[in-house]
Amino acid sequence: MKIRFAKKFELKDIVNLNSIFVKENCCNNILADGEEYYANKKIFVAVEDNKIVGYGYGDFAKETNTRSFAKANDKFFELEEMYVLPEFRNLGVGQKLFKKIEMYAKQNGAKTLRLNAVSKNYKSLLNFYIEILGMEFISAYLIKNLD
Ligand SMILES: CC(C)(COP(=O)(O)OP(=O)(O)OC[C@H]1O[C@@H](n2cnc3c(N)ncnc32)[C@H](O)[C@@H]1OP(=O)(O)O)[C@@H](O)C(=O)NCCC(=O)NCCS
Repeated sequence: MKIRFAKKFELKDIVNLNSIFVKENCCNNILADGEEYYANKKIFVAVEDNKIVGYGYGDFAKETNTRSFAKANDKFFELEEMYVLPEFRNLGVGQKLFKKIEMYAKQNGAKTLRLNAVSKNYKSLLNFYIEILGMEFISAYLIKNLD
């Protein structure tokens, strides 16, 4: 298992994984994107036997206000999407991807790594990010349908 940046010719594979992600319907707010969307992004891929089995990407931003968990102007990294194919889950691939992204963010001056945890399987996902990967809980946006 190797984690590295995706190459230009692999964009179609990322688009394919993204469409599998959308069809799985496991997370809120995941949109189907095309190659042009991913073209200018640095995307990390998990590769097993020459097959891309997972991906993750995000971007750097600057904090606008001082908050309880950051100061104004702090650089941070926002992880936007992370996905591992169902048949490759629970093998440590997600952890390896996350740790590589964390190292990249730190080496490039980010003071924090952030993400919006959007999985409907929220108990497993919070276990993954908080218990396994050491993230801190900040907030959760909840909704109750009143129809
Ligand atoms: C979340 C995800 C990237 C983890 O990848 P992974 O390779 O299975 O993770 P690892 O093998 O390194 O770690 C296993 C842990 O992942 C979590 N996990 C496993 N399957 C999961 C699932 N379907 N959904 C959410 N979390 C899951 C559990 O915490 C598990 O730990 P446990 O076995 O102690 O319960 C992967 O499950 C996935 O792609 N899920 C669907 C998309 C998603 O939720 N992406 C994150 C959006 S913020």
